[in-house]
Amino acid sequence: MPSSHRSEVLSATGSAPGKVILCGEHSVVYGQPAIAVPVSDLRAQAQITAAAPGSGLRLVAADLGETVTLRTAPADHPLAAIARLTLAEIGAAAPDAVLTVRSALPIAAGLGSGAAVSVALARALATFLGRELTAETVSALAYKVEKIYHGTPSGIDNTVVAWERPVYFVKGSLPEVFSIATPFHLLIADSGQYSSTRAVVAAIRSRRDVDPSRFAAPFKRMGEITRQARIAIASGELPALGVLLDENQALLADLGVSTPEIDRLVNAARAAGAWGAKLTGAGAGGNIIALVAAASLPGVREALRAAGAVHVWHTEVA
Ligand code: MEV
Repeated sequence: MPSSHRSEVLSATGSAPGKVILCGEHSVVYGQPAIAVPVSDLRAQAQITAAAPGSGLRLVAADLGETVTLRTAPADHPLAAIARLTLAEIGAAAPDAVLTVRSALPIAAGLGSGAAVSVALARALATFLGRELTAETVSALAYKVEKIYHGTPSGIDNTVVAWERPVYFVKGSLPEVFSIATPFHLLIADSGQYSSTRAVVAAIRSRRDVDPSRFAAPFKRMGEITRQARIAIASGELPALGVLLDENQALLADLGVSTPEIDRLVNAARAAGAWGAKLTGAGAGGNIIALVAAASLPGVREALRAAGAVHVWHTEVA
């Protein structure tokens, strides 16, 4: 929102949530559907403030203690890339300003940190220049940056982060809205291991190139799980949804993207009463999600901490 009381905008902000994939990661890269939900309490924030004439646009990654000037930043700098794409989209020159981004999201942990930073920055910059970007436009801009960083992303991260609502997503399509009969609770637990989505997706792609038949059946089944999960969510059958999440985890583990730490967290959540649990995002580290009845939240949270989670967050999907 513009925050100046004068006619010209002197500062503006933008923000975007993190996300978790409920089911269908990896298979979504190959055309199967996936379901993702925003995590509205964990956000990236961007703030832009006018600076001295001639100073150019400076981009500050506050969490990393890094500042670049747009004029001299390399083409593949993530903040510079989304800033340039946003300026091109709205047909504006870079303003003289300082644009600072901060994020509560862990990096390389499957929670959509990169997409959230891109969307927050694009929104702040556009608002500063007197324009509002639609979710569809800001998602498309962020997708271009995702491609620089993640190689062959499906586009699910930028989509759920830009729309900020639960999405049923198929690569190349606009997200489908779906109905949620009963709000449900997820605990998100950080394994403390970090992994590159680009590397994990590329490793699966090269193995699949060598042996496509090895991946056809699991990816197809993950697509079916996602379709069944959509029905379970629409009819409020949360224990059935948990069973589907567990099966999705087994398929992901079979593909080699789980880790002993993830397995330990998933098993701890289930033993403490979660309806289901699985890794979320690319895997090989990062976070797990556990689908948990309200009454079981304290016990599952405690079990996840005891099993080594470095953070446990809660989100309600409504
Ligand atoms: C990343 O959040 C999820 C993956 O399916 C990759 C993608 O969809 O681009 C692993």
